[in-house]
Amino acid sequence: MSELLAKIWSKNSKRIDGKLIIGGCQVSDLVAKYGSPIFIFDEDDFRARATSWKSELTKVFAANSGSVIYAAKAFLCIEVAKIVEEQGLDLDVCTGGELAVAKAAKFPPARLEMHGNNKSEREIAAAMEYGVRRIVVDSMQEIDRVARLAEERNLVQEILIRLTPGVEAHTHEYISTAHEDVKFGFSIASGAAWQAVKKIEETSSLRLMGVHAHIGSQIFSDEAFQETATRLIDFMGRYAKEFSKELSDLNLGGGFGVAYIDSDNPIAPAEMLAQIAKIVNQESMRVNISVPKVSIEPGRAIVGPSMTTIYSVGTTKEVKLENGESRLYVAVDGGMSDNIRTALYGAQYIAEIANRTSSSNSRDCRVVGKHCESGDILINNIELPSDISPGDLLAIPVTGAYGRSMASNYNHVPRPGVISVSNGSARTIIRSETEADLLALDVHEPASPIREQK
Ligand code: LLP
Repeated sequence: MSELLAKIWSKNSKRIDGKLIIGGCQVSDLVAKYGSPIFIFDEDDFRARATSWKSELTKVFAANSGSVIYAAKAFLCIEVAKIVEEQGLDLDVCTGGELAVAKAAKFPPARLEMHGNNKSEREIAAAMEYGVRRIVVDSMQEIDRVARLAEERNLVQEILIRLTPGVEAHTHEYISTAHEDVKFGFSIASGAAWQAVKKIEETSSLRLMGVHAHIGSQIFSDEAFQETATRLIDFMGRYAKEFSKELSDLNLGGGFGVAYIDSDNPIAPAEMLAQIAKIVNQESMRVNISVPKVSIEPGRAIVGPSMTTIYSVGTTKEVKLENGESRLYVAVDGGMSDNIRTALYGAQYIAEIANRTSSSNSRDCRVVGKHCESGDILINNIELPSDISPGDLLAIPVTGAYGRSMASNYNHVPRPGVISVSNGSARTIIRSETEADLLALDVHEPASPIREQK
C-alpha cells in the first residue's frame, strides 16, 4: 500500500514516511485544519489535464480543431471556472445555476455553450443576455422558444443541434441501434433530426453551426466515438447536399473514461483523438464536405482524478457472513451524501489509509457511510489493513467528477468543502457546510391566502 498507483491518484499525490501528501500538503494537516470529510483538489493536476486535452486536440486536428469544452456538471465552482478560463478551455453549462457560477467567475460568454434537454425560458433568456455563444437545442418546442427569445432581443443566436445517433456507449462496448429510447436529442434514424433541421433553416433568428452528440460516460475505447462521428458526418453530408452550404462544427460530447481501479485501462487521450481524427477525415471526404471543426466536452477525464475525498474512520464492525467468513465494516464520517456513485451506478473505488502505513495483514472490508440505510456503501469490497481503526483517515481517489456535484444533504448531513492544494499551500474553494447552512432555508411565517375558495 505504500506505492500509489499513478494511473489512479492525482499527479501530485505521494507518500512520505507513510503519510499521504497531496499537492505538497500532508493530508492529516489538511484534516486538522479543515475537518473531514473533505475533498482535496490537486489544482496542478487539474490544470495539467485540461492543458493536455487542449494541446492534444490542437495537435491532432490542427486547423480543424474546435474547442475543448469543460463539462461543468462534473464539478464546478467559481474558482474552477476561473482555472478553466485560464487554461484556455471553453465551458459547457446545462442549467441556470451552472450559468450563474460562470457569470460569477466572469467567464467569457463567447467561450460558453449551453446544454440541457429542458431549459426554461428564464434559463435561455439568461444565456442570451449574458451572450452565451452556443445553445444546443434539444427539442422542437425548444427551437421555437430559442427562436422567439432571440427575435425579441433582435439577435441571431448560434445553435448546435443535439442528435441521437443510435450509438449507446458503455465502458468497454457500445450498442448500435436505429432508434434510441432516450430523452436527449433528435433521432437521426426516425427522421426527427431532419425535421428539426428544416425548421431551423426556416427560422431567421437561429443560425445552425453544427451538430452535437453525447453517447455516454466512462467510455474506454474509441470505436463508439468513431461510429458516432461517422453517423454525424453522414448527416452533415446530407445537410450540405440539401441546403448547398456546410455546417462548420462537429461536437462529439464528453464521456472519456478514467481509471478508478487497477483493472481500468482507458485509452490515452492522444490515441483516442487520433483514431477519431482518422474517421472524421475519411468520412468527410466520403460525403464530400470540408472537414468540420471538432470539439469535445470532457468532464470526468479532467476533474475526476484531480480530487480525492478524505474521511475519518468512526467505527469498525466485524460482521459474520452466511458462508462462515466475516467482513469488517469500516464506517466513515460521510457516505452516499458526498458520493452517490457506488449506490447509484455500482461504481468501484479504491481506498487507502492516509495518515500512516500499516504492516498488518489486509482483510476483507466494506467501506460504508453514516447514513440511515444499508445501501449507503462507498466501497463494496476492498482489502484494507486489518488494524484499521477509529481515528484513521481514509482517502478515496478519483472523486472529482460527480462527487461534490451530486452531493446531497440526506439525513441533514452538511456537504463537504473543497480545498485546493498546490506546492504545499492550501485554500478553500468551497467551504464545508455547517448546520446553520442547513437551517438557513427553513422558514416560519404566517400563511397568506392564494385564492379565495368560493
Ligand atoms: N457533454 C454532455 C452533453 C453531457 O451530458 C455530459 C455528461 C458530458 C459532456 C460530460 O461527460 P463526461 O466527460 O464527464 O463523462 N453522473 C454520472 C455521469 C453522468 C454524465 C452526464 N453527462 C456519473 O457519475 O458517472
